[in-house]
Amino acid sequence: MFTNNRDFLAALRLESQNIPPAWIMRQAGRYLPEYLAVRKHFPNFLDMCKTPEVCCELVLQPIERFDLDAAIIFSDILTIPDALDLGVIFKEGQGPVFKNPIRSKSDIKNLKEFHPEKLNYVYDTTKLTKQALPSSKPLIGFTGSPWTLAAYSIEGKSPLKNEFLSAFLVNAEAETHDFLNILTSACFLYLKEQIISGADAVQIFDSWANLLKGEAYDQFSLNYIKKLLSMLKKDPITKNTPIILFARDPSCDLNNFLIPELDCLSLFTSADINEAMNTFNGKMAIQGNLNPKILLESDAILVDAVKQLSDSFQNYPGYIFNLGHGITPDINPEKVAIMLDALRS
Ligand code: CP3
Repeated sequence: MFTNNRDFLAALRLESQNIPPAWIMRQAGRYLPEYLAVRKHFPNFLDMCKTPEVCCELVLQPIERFDLDAAIIFSDILTIPDALDLGVIFKEGQGPVFKNPIRSKSDIKNLKEFHPEKLNYVYDTTKLTKQALPSSKPLIGFTGSPWTLAAYSIEGKSPLKNEFLSAFLVNAEAETHDFLNILTSACFLYLKEQIISGADAVQIFDSWANLLKGEAYDQFSLNYIKKLLSMLKKDPITKNTPIILFARDPSCDLNNFLIPELDCLSLFTSADINEAMNTFNGKMAIQGNLNPKILLESDAILVDAVKQLSDSFQNYPGYIFNLGHGITPDINPEKVAIMLDALRS
């Protein structure tokens, strides 16, 4: 039983598609020359995010170039910490840096309340983009997970080196949970405003899931994602909006993501496809998990990998084609076109 081809929202409802709908995490970004041409006018990346007309143009760039089947709001996950006055700046070649990171228990006690209207620029982008998109192209809203936002806020930059984060979790465990609760409520209000403004689906990015091993993942991350999911599925305004979760290289078993409120899991590159299909078949959609690095290989290797992946999911109702993580600035956009041709042929 096949419905129309490449229907992203239908795939989220587990309706089979002859050709899987496709979008790419970080599809509007530095690998596109047309993005760089706009970006060069903004020394500060967040200033660009605060300019809705420009964000709207950036959303449309990859849709127009590749005829992708879903658009994603142009913004960033660090808008919430910025709205909490943690002072987020993006330094060339260094990534995000916080002027006022969370470094003590009192930093959490003294946090200002989250006012969702501080992020009006994101909702304005959403409204403008929704108007500009053809009705056949759904718009995805997004947030970082509470854990991922906490990890950046405590580390004060990318938590990759983990200089402060692990010690903070041990020394200020109770306050960390307070902070995670504050962020969970903020994520809920933020996504709700995006949905009111026109987002057709939302994705939660747990981009630092990989830092938490064993029980700690459940305690510090999944627990709060579940709280967020139930807030969204209880609210009359947000309850029908499908929710996708991306978790980067989580250490837990896939069946931990079999959560009734979740509509789709976005698989990281390391996930086992067969295990995922067995776990989620008939219950949840699956998105991902092509390794972005394959876009650096020869056309033949790339086409082969795409064919293999789409063959694997041929009989899976509710598969959405995507990479296993965001596309990187070193990718040639021509390769993206070749990848999508292979999928659609
Ligand atoms: O098409 C899209 O997806 C654009 C919207 C988008 C951006 N960031 C724009 C952006 C989305 C959905 C994000 C999510 C995001 N931001 C995540 C989750 C996705 C993931 O990869 O796991 C994370 C972890 C961030 C935080 C962040 N923002 C980082 C680590 C960086 C890169 C810093 C660097 O210099 O490498 C950003 C900046 C950013 N966000 C860029 C874009 C297009 C690049 C900014 C630039 O042009 O310099």
